[in-house]
Amino acid sequence: DRKLRAQLYEVNALATKLYNHILMNHPAGAQGLSYLLERGLTKKTIAQFQLGYSPANGRDLVQFLRKRGFSVDLIVQAGLGLISSDGELFDRFRNRVMFPIADLQGRTIGFGARTLTGDDPKYINTQETPIFRKGNILYGYALARQGIRKTGKAVLLEGYMDVIALHQHGITHAIASLGTALTTEQAAILRRAVADEVILLYDGDSAGQKATQKSIEILRDMDIPIRVAQMPQDVDPDEAIRKQGVDAFRSDVLDKAVSALEYQLIQLTHKHPQHMTTDRIDYLRDAISILALEESSIEREAMAEWLSKTYAISLAALKDDLNTQVRLKS
Ligand code: UTP
Ligand code: MN
Ligand code: MN
Ligand code: MN
Ligand code: MN
Repeated sequence: DRKLRAQLYEVNALATKLYNHILMNHPAGAQGLSYLLERGLTKKTIAQFQLGYSPANGRDLVQFLRKRGFSVDLIVQAGLGLISSDGELFDRFRNRVMFPIADLQGRTIGFGARTLTGDDPKYINTQETPIFRKGNILYGYALARQGIRKTGKAVLLEGYMDVIALHQHGITHAIASLGTALTTEQAAILRRAVADEVILLYDGDSAGQKATQKSIEILRDMDIPIRVAQMPQDVDPDEAIRKQGVDAFRSDVLDKAVSALEYQLIQLTHKHPQHMTTDRIDYLRDAISILALEESSIEREAMAEWLSKTYAISLAALKDDLNTQVRLKS
């Protein structure tokens, strides 16, 4: 109900403040602060994203919240506390860098928490609560809203640090789906917010490529225009922007984003490494079935012409097979 939700917002706001205070001012957060500074974040960015630290002792937050009059039950419902086997309340998050996750209006509704010690999992996130469902928010959205409106575009990333790094470097229309696959709720937010196009930019590993493929399908089903940018092997956007600087990142990555169709045809060459020689026919056959899924006949035609030139096959033959597939589909 309304009152419960209001209390959950309040308790999350207080937790955000306490964690941030500990990170910035307290010896218990010193390790977290040097970690973030070493990863290239400025204090201004840390303040903007309200990053924090959950101390190791496992009591500070719950004691603070109990003193402010919040019930044990509410603290547990908010995902901020747990009850031990002997009935004691303790902090859910311990010894981790805290990333507050905001709703579309910018209110904290949950947290992502990163280990500094190589624990597995690397990030733990607030479980579902009455105000938090991971699948229907986009990390960074409230801060990205203006940038998205101004550019008409959104850059869709995987992770917390990717969003933060791009914002720090002035690319303020960056958001993340948190984890890998995009949900239809997240896509619906994008459809309302984005006038021009979504630029997909996931990590340069196999998980990132799989997620890209899946997100392309979801966005295409919802008629959201997209382009796909690509990372070099085993690099993510946070690492890339730090390594090459923002200007090179813009010109080598963002400005080189390709259409979804072109991306898929490039991916297909990895499946057929001999696509220029012995695997040429296999490759073209698979390429045609990808082309057949493209709604825009302009895009289909353009890529068919490209295939014709690149693989020295007549456009007529390609179009013949393509039209058969398109007809089969409809
Ligand atoms: P990555 O594994 O790519 O991590 O996961 P990252 O964002 O690059 O993290 P850093 O740079 O090492 O700090 C991408 C996103 O998937 C979610 C997080 O939202 C993360 O940012 N994730 C990942 C989890 O929720 N739990 C995990 O254990 C790992
Ligand atoms: Mn990743
Ligand atoms: Mn990373
Ligand atoms: Mn990553
Ligand atoms: Mn083959």
